[in-house]
Amino acid sequence: MTGLTQQHDSSYNLLVRKPYSIFCCELNERITMPKLKIVELNKELDIEQGIPILMGASLQGVNFGFICGGNAACGTCTVVVKEGADSLKPRNAKESFLAKAMMLGDDQRLGCQTEMGSGDLTVSIPALGRPASPFSLPFPR
Ligand code: FES
Repeated sequence: MTGLTQQHDSSYNLLVRKPYSIFCCELNERITMPKLKIVELNKELDIEQGIPILMGASLQGVNFGFICGGNAACGTCTVVVKEGADSLKPRNAKESFLAKAMMLGDDQRLGCQTEMGSGDLTVSIPALGRPASPFSLPFPR
């Protein structure tokens, strides 16, 4: 019984992401935790490098978009990059497809597909300026 509890606790701890820079003793390296600045909220969030913007914001209580479940099919998670675009990876195939269909500009990215880069990022999230929608659900965990 005790072994089951420890295993469960261990699994739980692996799922928890702390919203600040941490030092990983096993890897002996610092995990980069750049800031996501959201213009509409005048707020800064610490989001781990490599985490999609939509997921990182949702984990800290900022929910937007997400009608398609983060599958690059709806465009409700579109963000406008104001600063820091050079630290982002290019669009992946799914994002490129929808961006072309929606005729998104180079400064518009899908929050569900765009991973935080190594540097700080400033974005405007048009969805936050609209009235609350029942479709603005938290990113699944
Ligand atoms: S949540 Fe639908 S495209 Fe990103």
